[in-house]
Amino acid sequence: MSDALQQACQIREMRLEDVSRVILIEREIFLFPWTEMNFADSVKAGYHCRVLEQNDVLIGYGIMMMGPDEAHILTIGISAQWQHQGWGGKLLQYFIDLAKQQEAVSVLLDVRESNIGAANLYRRLGFKQIAVRKGYYPAMCGREDALVMRLEL
Ligand SMILES: CC(C)(COP(=O)(O)OP(=O)(O)OC[C@H]1O[C@@H](n2cnc3c(N)ncnc32)[C@H](O)[C@@H]1OP(=O)(O)O)[C@@H](O)C(=O)NCCC(=O)NCCS
Repeated sequence: MSDALQQACQIREMRLEDVSRVILIEREIFLFPWTEMNFADSVKAGYHCRVLEQNDVLIGYGIMMMGPDEAHILTIGISAQWQHQGWGGKLLQYFIDLAKQQEAVSVLLDVRESNIGAANLYRRLGFKQIAVRKGYYPAMCGREDALVMRLEL
């Protein structure tokens, strides 16, 4: 990733008026997408909702919720045409740093068992699998397990 591209890209707070653009990416990259209301409720609830923007083009987003000691990454997505260029890793690292600033002791997330690419990215950043939630996600043929992953801070 070039320095110029790095500089042109910023992570900022998601606002309610961003949700209509976020949902377009969400529907493009997830088979079972969140609704606009899920995103709007997360913004209103004061979760750490962020977008990744390059020259006014929204290329990704993520949401993290703080518990007493643990931070939970609820969702993270990068528009298909921007994937595999390091942006997901950059956004994830941003949330890890934010969780540290908030004095969390760990960061938790769930990932579909079949989502090998995402799970690899999480492992690369130090997340370890700690549990499996049986049949947690809807799937095309029934249900799918979730891997629960944790990063100790
Ligand atoms: C999962 C997701 C957020 C990752 O975002 P991303 O921007 O593609 O992530 P990165 O580019 O940082 O890393 C992903 C891969 O690209 C590779 N990569 C990073 N920079 C690269 C570059 N400059 N050139 C080529 N490959 C690169 C990484 O090595 C990594 O490979 P791996 O998965 O084989 O280990 C994104 O793919 C996505 O939105 N997927 C659909 C939604 C989803 O599954 N969300 C997660 C739900 S738990």
